[in-house]
Amino acid sequence: MAADVLIRSARPDDAGALSRLGRRTFIDTFVTGFGIPYPQSDLAAHLDKTFGVEATLVALAEPGAAWWVADRDGDLLAFANAGPNGLPHPDAKPSHAELRRLYVDKSAQGLGLGTALLIRALDWMQANGDGPLWIGVWSGNLKAQKLYAAHGFEKAGEYQYPVGAWLDEEFILRRDGRAG
Ligand SMILES: CC(C)(COP(=O)(O)OP(=O)(O)OC[C@H]1O[C@@H](n2cnc3c(N)ncnc32)[C@H](O)[C@@H]1OP(=O)(O)O)[C@@H](O)C(=O)NCCC(=O)NCCS
Repeated sequence: MAADVLIRSARPDDAGALSRLGRRTFIDTFVTGFGIPYPQSDLAAHLDKTFGVEATLVALAEPGAAWWVADRDGDLLAFANAGPNGLPHPDAKPSHAELRRLYVDKSAQGLGLGTALLIRALDWMQANGDGPLWIGVWSGNLKAQKLYAAHGFEKAGEYQYPVGAWLDEEFILRRDGRAG
């Protein structure tokens, strides 16, 4: 990873930059990149609900959740968010930890930032959950699935993730909480 990039916990005053980075990375990845044909109104509703500044401020203050950013001279290049599990799997409980998001800006992908943030998040998840670790990932996102598999995650199920009224087909990944 580049020496001038700092991995640190997110602060409330990161909300504006996190909002812009999240919005941009969602569009770059799923709309421009994978070409998922979200209806415009569903996409707009999802972006506001998930990446709006107000929503981000609330999410940053969520009890039991944690956020990390990759910061280069005040520019946020990537972020990760973990917290109590919300994935709909019969074995999954809220006391388990879930990686909710791992987003690296398009311009900074392939530099090791995703791996660095993932390692940081997994350490926290191991320490703050009392069971397996969980991740939801889009079924077509092979690059992310390969990264998670390299860190011990295996497919445990499927579910549908709402983007407005549109439903994405997602995989549920699981790793035993005690795995290395
Ligand atoms: C998936 C993602 C988190 C990976 O982070 P990254 O910083 O780009 O990846 P890293 O540099 O840490 O590399 C991780 C692995 O991916 C591989 N990789 C990097 N760029 C790649 C590319 N363009 N295509 C395929 N594999 C690639 C690397 O070789 C590395 O594997 P290795 O450890 O076996 O060498 C990042 O690309 C991303 O945020 N993508 C968009 C959003 C997303 O899909 N998030 C995850 C699901 S929510």
